Amino acid sequence: MTDTDVPSRPKEGGGWNRQDAAAAPFRLLQLTDLHLYADPHRRLLGQDTRLTLESVLGLARARHWPPDAVALTGDLVHDELPGAYRFLRQRFDALAIPYHCLPGNHDRLDLLVGHLDPAAASALRLVTAGAWDLLLVDSTVPGREGGHLSEHVLAGIADHAAAGRGRPTLVFLHHHLAPIGSAWIDTMQVDNGPAALAALARHPDLRAVICGHVHQDGEQVQQGLRLLATPSTCVQFLPGSPTFALDPLTPGYRWLELHEDGRLDTGIERTDAYPEALGPATEGY
Ligand SMILES: [Fe+2]
Repeated sequence: MTDTDVPSRPKEGGGWNRQDAAAAPFRLLQLTDLHLYADPHRRLLGQDTRLTLESVLGLARARHWPPDAVALTGDLVHDELPGAYRFLRQRFDALAIPYHCLPGNHDRLDLLVGHLDPAAASALRLVTAGAWDLLLVDSTVPGREGGHLSEHVLAGIADHAAAGRGRPTLVFLHHHLAPIGSAWIDTMQVDNGPAALAALARHPDLRAVICGHVHQDGEQVQQGLRLLATPSTCVQFLPGSPTFALDPLTPGYRWLELHEDGRLDTGIERTDAYPEALGPATEGY
């Protein structure tokens, strides 16, 4: 598929499809939990996840385009096969937008590194984004659905703080650090969440910690840290549900404007509808 195949939508609102003054912020998109398959005929809960990704990209191209970079925050594939990573690489290379990947619990890190983003081999990496620093964290634990922030990662984040760069900073990771109030998902959060939060809260320039994994929009403050969660580009989970349940809300993405003066503007956009009927929740996940 080529870039020109992205469906177009009418331009709406005050998005990025315009030329701004010289002091434009760094414009970032977060896409998460794509759950792609190597086999284009497979479905996740009734959804062709390639098609839902296309619908999200179409919306982004109408509202927030071009971004300066895209963060892809895990569960990039669902079947842990090379073909899904190769598809994603071809798709994003065609967009000609820099993209940065980190793994989720459905990813195979070796395949992600080998077929999509070699830089993802590092459990903690620094990406500069205009006047800001982005810290991309691997929160996965092989063989487990839940996450963990290792001593290595926490020490690296402390080193970044101690370096005194004085640049506003965002942490991106797959798993959520604090419960979101949905028991089945909260069994799969970072298992050392309070300790990790305490460590991150000591970073003087950290403006927000942004995750995927929970397939829903969320925002809370814990230990003074702003924690943001972002909808999936495919199916959504019902907020507050103690057991697995689908939310009929549509796929989406997060946009972020990183201003030179340290201000962060961010929000969620969702598509108007699913491309195909949503499957029964009884299929599980
Ligand atoms: Fe996911």
